[in-house]
Amino acid sequence: MAALPSDGEMREKKRILVTGGAGFIGTHTVLQLLKGGFLVSIIDNFDNSCEEALERVRDLAGPDLSQNLQFYLGDLRNREDLERVFSESRYDAVIHFAGLKAVGESVAKPLLYYNNNMIGTIHLYEFMTKYGCKKMVFSSSTTVYGQPEKIPCVEDSELNALNPYGRTKLFLEDMARDIQHADPEFRVILLRYFNPVGAHESGQIGEDPKGIPNNLMPYIQQVAVGRRPVLNVYGDDYPTKDGTPIRDYIHVMDVADGHIAALRKLFAEENIGCIAYNLGTGFGTSVLEMVAAFEKAAGKKIPIKMCPRRPGDATEVYASTEKAQKDLGWSARYGIAEMCRDQWNWASKNPYGYQSQPPES
Ligand code: UD1
Repeated sequence: MAALPSDGEMREKKRILVTGGAGFIGTHTVLQLLKGGFLVSIIDNFDNSCEEALERVRDLAGPDLSQNLQFYLGDLRNREDLERVFSESRYDAVIHFAGLKAVGESVAKPLLYYNNNMIGTIHLYEFMTKYGCKKMVFSSSTTVYGQPEKIPCVEDSELNALNPYGRTKLFLEDMARDIQHADPEFRVILLRYFNPVGAHESGQIGEDPKGIPNNLMPYIQQVAVGRRPVLNVYGDDYPTKDGTPIRDYIHVMDVADGHIAALRKLFAEENIGCIAYNLGTGFGTSVLEMVAAFEKAAGKKIPIKMCPRRPGDATEVYASTEKAQKDLGWSARYGIAEMCRDQWNWASKNPYGYQSQPPES
């Protein structure tokens, strides 16, 4: 393996385009990029994010580094928006977060998901090709493992998707492989996130989903601050230690740092092709264990109600972390206690997320 460049070498005026940079994982990654000395341009349509999140990133980065952040309000489906973004700067690499990700919504509105996730990404590759930017870090997901037959999930397992959202991720992984195969100058890293949770240690940025949260931790957080009365636990009859499903929760700062490690590889090595890496901790935690850890961090009880299973939920999913550790020199640093501590810090300081008032619904 070629020697990885030092932070100093990486800093040499590398400009990264971050799509969806105002979102949950986007904001944390952009902050780490700025702190790592990169120049960053974001394109985001604020579909599930907001301007205030970017203001907080600027504050956390400080006056000097925040000058290195440029923002475009735009939608990847709109070619004019992309033309503007690509014609105004030269990018050394793209990190592509932008996309819709609610499983239930994707079942109800498949065209919305295919339109947004597929067309946006196709346009992005077209503009990358046109402007000669051929390094890509793509947000993939554990969803591409479907109902995994073997755990821990290893990157070369057979892939399978169970819903339209998952299929968009699977198709986009395949598309990336095809594009790279046709044009070997492309270097593509697919990062498969397990369950990103937690928040920046400052408590100034964190996850703030619009509407009723689909995922466990944002829901727990809203119960903890009194926005919702009770957490519905979807199934306690799974063949696990306490009957609830097991997932690999990972601190969002570890996920953010995984992107820096991926960029480092993209810049250091030629002919890497298109490679997938899991970003997980390798540890499984049950729903009830997560509730207990959050209660401990918050010092309060989370009321729960046992409910039937949620359709499509897998029993147990966790990552094999070897490949990322070996190739990217990256591994997760934080455990469940720190994830809950930081998520509670964010929630208690920002009970309504980036809003100061309760939302209308
Ligand atoms: C979900 C998505 C997955 C996506 C990932 C993004 C589904 C079926 N899968 O994964 O495609 O990539 O989010 O992070 O939606 N739970 C409750 N009560 C709740 C919410 C969740 O008991 O109110 C349980 C679920 O049954 C599950 C666990 O908590 O066992 C984790 O759920 P969630 O946070 O939605 O993540 P995944 O299902 O792993």
